[in-house]
Amino acid sequence: MQEMNPVYPTIAIIGAGAMGRGIAQLAAQAGSTVILYDTQTAALVSAQQAIENQWDKLLGKGKLDAAQTAAYKSRLQCALTLSDLAHCDLVIEAIVERMDIKMGLFADLEAIVRTETVLATNTSSLSVTAIAAKLKHPQRFAGFHFFNPVPLMKVVEVIQGLKTDTSVCDALAQYARQMGHTPVAAQDTPGFIVNHAGRGYGTEALRIVGEGVADFATIDRILRDQVGFKLGPFELMDLTALDVSHPVMESIYHQYFEEPRYRPSVITAQRLAGGVLGRKTGEGFYRYEAGVAQISPEPAVPVVADMPPVWVSPRAARRSELLQLLKNLGAQIETGVSPSPAALTLVAPLGFDVTTVAVVERLDPARTVGIDLLVDDAATRRRVLATNPATRVDMRDAAHALMARDGKAVSVIRDSAGFVTQRVVANIVNIAADICQQRVCTPADLETAVTLGLGYPLGPLAMGNLYGPTNVLEVLFNMQTVYGDPRYRPSPWLRRRGAIGLSLMHEEE
Ligand code: NAI
Repeated sequence: MQEMNPVYPTIAIIGAGAMGRGIAQLAAQAGSTVILYDTQTAALVSAQQAIENQWDKLLGKGKLDAAQTAAYKSRLQCALTLSDLAHCDLVIEAIVERMDIKMGLFADLEAIVRTETVLATNTSSLSVTAIAAKLKHPQRFAGFHFFNPVPLMKVVEVIQGLKTDTSVCDALAQYARQMGHTPVAAQDTPGFIVNHAGRGYGTEALRIVGEGVADFATIDRILRDQVGFKLGPFELMDLTALDVSHPVMESIYHQYFEEPRYRPSVITAQRLAGGVLGRKTGEGFYRYEAGVAQISPEPAVPVVADMPPVWVSPRAARRSELLQLLKNLGAQIETGVSPSPAALTLVAPLGFDVTTVAVVERLDPARTVGIDLLVDDAATRRRVLATNPATRVDMRDAAHALMARDGKAVSVIRDSAGFVTQRVVANIVNIAADICQQRVCTPADLETAVTLGLGYPLGPLAMGNLYGPTNVLEVLFNMQTVYGDPRYRPSPWLRRRGAIGLSLMHEEE
C-alpha cells in the first residue's frame, strides 16, 4: 500500500453529525488516525457505523480493496471524553452553530491539548476571529470550512482570522489536498467566499418574483436555459431547504450592517415561518409527490394567423444578430427610420425596462415588446420577451409566436429593468467583483470556490468575461437609474475592468 504522510498524523473531530462524519471519512482516507468525539453517544455510534458502511460500499463497488478498507477502519476511533483528545495534532470542530458553545468548547480544549495543536472550526456563518477571541494562543486557530456532503463537495475554505498564523493556513491547505479536496484561502469575512458569492443568485431571483415579474417556475426555466445553471434558484432553495438558506441570507445581511445588496426576502421569511421549507417537507416553491416536483406546463405558443411586420430599434443590443434571427425565422422586417403603424416593435435594452425605452425612443408602447439579448441567442435554449403595461395582446402573441417558430422555448415576462438573466448575472458578477475588491480571496480562488462549492456553470468572473464587463456594467448602471436603489451600485473593481475593457480574470492590481 502507498505510504501516506499526512500533515497531521492524529486528528480529532468534535461533533459527529452530517459534517463531522464526512470530514472524519476523508481524514482517515488521507492516512490520519481520527478520533471522533460527540456529547451524544448515539451520534457517535451512528457516525462510526455510517462511515464504515461508506467504505464497505466502496469495497463492494471495487473502488477500495480489502486491505485499504481495513486500514481506514483501523484509523477511525471514538472518544468518550474530551481529555482523550490530548495528543492530537489537529482538532476540527463541527458542533452546533452557536458562538457561546463553540467558544466554551475551545476554552476547554486549550486546557487539554498541546500548545502546538492546531484548532479549526467548520463554522459556516460565525466569525473565526470572534470564536478565537478568548484563546490563549489564537495564532493556531483557523476556519476549515467544508461543504455538505463532504466527500462529494470537493472544496474547502481555509479561513485566516485576524490573529491566525499564515503557516497554520498553509498546512491546513496542504492537508485539504491530501484529503483529495481543493483548498481556497479566504479572509475572515461574513459568508467567507462561497456563501457570500452565492448571494447574487437566489436573492435577486426572489426580488424578481417579489416584483411580480414572473413566477418561480418561469425564472427557474430562464436561468437554466439561458445561462446553463443546473438548478434554477427556486429548485436550489427547495433542495437546500429554507431553514438552512434563509438564516444564511439574514446572517450575511446583518453581519455586513444591512448592506442592501444582501437584503433577504420577505418571501422566504414567510415560507420559513409557515414550514414550507422545500423538498424535505414535501412542499417548497414546488410541491413534491414521491420526491418529484410537480411543475405546471408552460403556457402554449399562441396561434397567430396574420403575423405583423417587425421593426427593430436602432439601439437594440446585438442588433445585427437580432435582425439575422428575425430573417431566419421568416419575419417581414421593416427597414424604415420608424415603425409603420402596423409593425411589431422590438427593443433589446440592457438594464432598462421596456416601458422606459418605448418612452425615450418615442415608440408606440402598445406595439413594443422587449427581448433579452445579453446572452447570444445561438448559445441559449430559450428566448425571453417582456411586455410593458400598454403592450397589446395581439402584439405580445405575435412576438411570442414569431420567436417560437424554430421550436426554441420562449418565456414572456412582465416588464422589468434587466429582464431575468441580466439582473441575476449582473448581480452575481457584481457581488463577485466586490469580493475581489475586499480582497476576501484571489480572483482565481473565487472562481474555484464558486464552481466547486455552488456548481455554477462558470465562475462569476468568467461569466462576466463571457457576457462582457461593459454589458454587465451597463445593466447595473441602468438598473440603478430605474430603481434608484444602491443595491445595483457597481463595485469599483468591476467599474475599473469595464472602463479599460480587459479580461476580468487576468488583470492583477
Ligand atoms: P449536526 O447537527 O448534524 O451535528 C452536530 C453534532 O454536534 C451533533 O451530533 C451534536 O450532538 C454534536 N454536538 C453539539 N454540541 C456539542 C458539544 N458541545 N460537544 C460535542 N458535540 C456536540 O450539524 P452539522 O450540519 O454537521 O453542522 C456542524 C457545523 O458545521 C456547524 O457549525 C455548521 O454551521 C457547519 N456546517 C454545516 C454545513 C451543513 O450543510 N450541514 C455545511 C458547512 C458547515
